[in-house]
Amino acid sequence: MRHANRLLIAFAACIFVVTFVTRLAAQSDTDGWSIPEGASKEANPISVTPELLEQGRELYGDNCERCHGPQGRGDGSDAEPDDPPADLTDPARASRNRDGVVFYRIWNGRNNPKMPAFKDEGLTKEEVWTIVAYVQSLRKT
Ligand code: HEC
Repeated sequence: MRHANRLLIAFAACIFVVTFVTRLAAQSDTDGWSIPEGASKEANPISVTPELLEQGRELYGDNCERCHGPQGRGDGSDAEPDDPPADLTDPARASRNRDGVVFYRIWNGRNNPKMPAFKDEGLTKEEVWTIVAYVQSLRKT
């Protein structure tokens, strides 16, 4: 009888752990970024020229500056002090922000902390790639 009780407790503990882990995974799915597999290998299809960077600077000013700040340091007027927008100039974040990844961060956005999905904000893919080129140029090396 004792043995059966112990088994029951172990079983209940397992269920608890599984439920908890599934919950966490589901949460990170809805709160997190939506980056397709292989994105880190996608390079910018548009060639980067001074003119393109200038267009990117304007698009950044219209769409990103209010949160990420004029120089990309995460200090825009709409930045949430508790959940600051990432510092786009930080060289330590370069390896997790290859061109394709930055594209999908902008295209799909994020729920929490909130960053808008720019595919729903009227930007074309070409405009987003233009912004990617500009954002990559902000990083200190
Ligand atoms: C409403 C505010 C807001 C706007 C507008 C916004 N972002 Fe963000 N962005 C955030 C927040 C908050 C984060 C940090 C999320 C996190 O903690 O991972 C973020 C993260 C990022 C990251 C990830 C950086 C990293 O190292 O993890 C990139 C790249 C980025 N934003 C680019 C942009 C670009 C480009 C635009 C304009 C097209 C833009 N964002 C517009 C709030 C915003």
